[in-house]
Amino acid sequence: MKRYLITGASRGIGRAIAEKLAAKDVELLLHGRDTVALAQTQKAVELQCAKVALLIHDLAITAGVSDLIAEVGKERIDLLVNNAGVAVVKPFMEITQIEWKQTVGVNITAPFMLTQHFAPRMPPGSSIVNILSVAAKRGFPNWSAYCMSKFALEGFSQCVREELRDRKIRVINVYPAATDTEIWDQIEGKWPRKKMMGATEVGDAVVFALARPTDTLVENITLSSLAGNL
Ligand SMILES: NC(=O)c1ccc[n+]([C@@H]2O[C@H](COP(=O)([O-])OP(=O)(O)OC[C@H]3O[C@@H](n4cnc5c(N)ncnc54)[C@H](OP(=O)(O)O)[C@@H]3O)[C@@H](O)[C@H]2O)c1
Repeated sequence: MKRYLITGASRGIGRAIAEKLAAKDVELLLHGRDTVALAQTQKAVELQCAKVALLIHDLAITAGVSDLIAEVGKERIDLLVNNAGVAVVKPFMEITQIEWKQTVGVNITAPFMLTQHFAPRMPPGSSIVNILSVAAKRGFPNWSAYCMSKFALEGFSQCVREELRDRKIRVINVYPAATDTEIWDQIEGKWPRKKMMGATEVGDAVVFALARPTDTLVENITLSSLAGNL
C-alpha cells in the first residue's frame, strides 16, 4: 500500500488533490486544522481509498509541524504534497509581524521541515509536490508577504529537486493562477471568482505529473484561466 501525505487537505486545492489521488491501494494522510472540514474531505475519499488518517496540526508554529511528523510515524511515505498555505494581502506598510511570521511558518518553514524529514525516508520512485503559485514568479501589488513566501519555496524546492535526483525522487512544482477556493473569502477586494479555475484543475495536473513513468520528471506546471491571472 502507498502512503500519501497532503497538507491543507481540509478544503480547496488540497481537498481536490486528495479526491483525485484516492485509490484502493493508497492510504491518504490528510492534514488540516478544521476538524469539520477535514471530516468532509474524509467522507469524499474514504470509499475510494484503502485507509484515511486525519492529522490536525497548526503549521504556523514549528511545534505543530513536529507533531505532524511524529503522528505520521516511522513508516515510509511515497508522496508528500506541500499544499497548506496562507495569503496575507495588504500594502506592505500594513503587514504586522504576526502576519509575516505566520506566512513564513505555514508557507516556508513547514514545507522545509516536512521535506527535510520525509525525503530521506522516501523510496526511489516517490514524489514531492509543492503547490506554489504564479506569485512565485512575479510580484503583484499588495501580495508582498505571499510572494516573498512563494519565491522562497521556489528557490528551496529547485535546489532540493537537484539534490534528490540521484535518489530517484521527483520534485514537482505546480504554479496555479487564481483558483476559486475559500482562500479568497478573507482577501479584501472584488475578485472575479466565476472566471477563476476550479481546484479540480490543479488536482488533475498533479495526477498527470505523478502518472508519468517514474524516470520522467514533470518539473513545473503553470495553470491559469484563459481569462488571465486575475
Ligand atoms: N486559490 C488560489 O487562487 C491559489 C493560487 C495559487 C496557489 N495557491 C496555493 O494553493 C494552496 C492551497 O490554497 P487554497 O486556495 O486551497 O486555500 P484554502 O482553501 O484557504 O485552503 C488552505 C489550506 O491550508 C490550510 N492551512 C492554512 N493555514 C494553516 C495553518 N496555520 N496550519 C495548518 N494548515 C493551514 C488550511 O487548513 P484549515 O482550513 O483546516 O485551517 C486549508 O486546508 C496554498 O499554498 C495557496 O498558496 C492558491
